[in-house]
Amino acid sequence: MNYQWYPGHMTKAKRMMQENIGLIDLVIELVDARVPLSSRNPDIDELGRDKYRVILLNKSDLADAEANRLWTAYFQEKGLHVLEVNARSGQGLKALQGIVREACREKIERDRKRGIKNRPIRAIVVGIPNVGKSTFINSFAGKACTKTGNKPGVTKGKQWIRMNRELELLDTPGILWPKFESEEVGRNLALIGSMNDEILEMTQLAEELLQYLLAHYRKPLAERYRMEDISGTTTAAEVLTHICEDRKCYKKGQEPDYEKAASVLLDDFRSGRIGRITLELPETTA
Ligand code: G4P
Repeated sequence: MNYQWYPGHMTKAKRMMQENIGLIDLVIELVDARVPLSSRNPDIDELGRDKYRVILLNKSDLADAEANRLWTAYFQEKGLHVLEVNARSGQGLKALQGIVREACREKIERDRKRGIKNRPIRAIVVGIPNVGKSTFINSFAGKACTKTGNKPGVTKGKQWIRMNRELELLDTPGILWPKFESEEVGRNLALIGSMNDEILEMTQLAEELLQYLLAHYRKPLAERYRMEDISGTTTAAEVLTHICEDRKCYKKGQEPDYEKAASVLLDDFRSGRIGRITLELPETTA
């Protein structure tokens, strides 16, 4: 399958990031916990090289709990500060202030030694489309905080959300362009719903997901679709046919509607109804 993103969007996203990055101390990067590498653009390491960095494993509620722990350790080993969060429910966000303080300790110390007070850390939230940036900003900022007005040196219209005395957040997130460096990355992004489904071959995508689930999450798959006879030799095509029967996906004349079954499966996966599933692990992708 040919996965891509529009070059025009890419240029615009890049320009916006370059314009904003100079204004900030801290980059809060959201990745999708189900595909923590595929949902990153490694160029952020270059763009944010002089910045303090925090990685949020967002949508951690949809990802495998054990895999979340492995990914946390993976990013920590790279010297990044990491936190598992669920931006939608707000779970995990309480610990963020502490993590931010830890990540920016050097600056806080420096300011303190110089007697500088009331200079909050300025942060930007970045991530690829659909990773949960707006949801995060809304949850984290909540209703309690105030937006500061335009400030000198800040492009007109830019707003800082004052979280507390220590932290200000740019209200517009930075969009990172996904990097389709391999077929696998493209497939992972398609599976989590980061691409427009209309350009995808849904049946093929569903079969690829089924192959993965059969290999790594056979039990939850069998439970979801009431497949008692599932075994090590069951094929993706057989499961898809079973889903057609189980969910009564038929075209006229009782012909199985594989497209419909594929969209049932993908929808179930994306909303966590098959269980908490992670599509890539540090050992296999690092
Ligand atoms: P973006 O700004 O990065 O483009 O992403 P956005 O916040 O719009 O979030 C994309 C979708 O992901 C939203 O769902 C949002 O609710 C969901 N989401 C964000 N964070 C989490 C999380 O931690 N866990 C889960 N399970 N979902 C999360 P949507 O279906 O597009 O909208 P809605 O149905 O929530 O309104």
